[in-house]
Amino acid sequence: MLSVNKLNVAYGESLILRGVDLNVAEGEAVCLLGRNGVGKTTLLKSIMGLLKPKSGRLTFEGADFTHRRPDERAQQGIGYVPQGREIFPQLSVRDNLILGLAARGQDFDTVPEEVYDLFPALKDLLHRKGGDLSGGQQQQLAIARILLTRPKLLLLDEPTEGIQPSIIDEIEDAIHKIKATGVAILLVEQYLQFAWRLSDNYYVMEKGTIISQGSTEALSEEEVQQHLTV
Ligand SMILES: Nc1ncnc2c1ncn2[C@@H]1O[C@H](COP(=O)(O)OP(=O)(O)O)[C@@H](O)[C@H]1O
Ligand SMILES: [Mg+2]
Repeated sequence: MLSVNKLNVAYGESLILRGVDLNVAEGEAVCLLGRNGVGKTTLLKSIMGLLKPKSGRLTFEGADFTHRRPDERAQQGIGYVPQGREIFPQLSVRDNLILGLAARGQDFDTVPEEVYDLFPALKDLLHRKGGDLSGGQQQQLAIARILLTRPKLLLLDEPTEGIQPSIIDEIEDAIHKIKATGVAILLVEQYLQFAWRLSDNYYVMEKGTIISQGSTEALSEEEVQQHLTV
């Protein structure tokens, strides 16, 4: 479904991603692991079109989209929940969600029930300002909003970062349900057990290069942990 080929991405003169190859098949969940600063967020931004590669190629459902604009990528079915969430803090939860619907070209004034099937807690928060929610609630809102654009592939950048354990469980549950509906997922995550329970395949990045990849079934969490802590 998604194919990243020999991708090189730089900030100014400094090359960050070096020849990255990565694939996500239809309906599959893939986790991208690696320590802070290795280039994981840079890769997701490049897939979304927020950074221009120096070279390399991106394809989605067989079509080259290396030079497409971010909004075209979203329309093709790529949804991105950035690290740190980036909801609209001054807007209500309801209005944040309605914006998700507007992005899919629909002009609703009620929030579809499907949102509450995944995130029941949002129902009682509809009129609160996004910025007044807890980190975990904001993460739920950010994921719910992107889902309303009907992505076929969801890019999630550290959805558990800085979130309390009880809400992490709710988010994990929701992401499993999203996967069960056939949405493919590319997950960047530091919380290894969370990533392992969800993912079919993994990639480990170090200094902008993929140093290890494979099926999560073929490798134990402990073995991957060793890769990450060496
Ligand atoms: N806007 C930027 N300008 C210059 N360098 C950046 C920028 N964003 C990130 N970097 C650098 O790129 C490298 C990779 O960052 P990032 O992709 O955010 O890593 P990760 O998500 O794996 O923690 C880091 O060395 C970081 O300092
Ligand atoms: Mg990051």
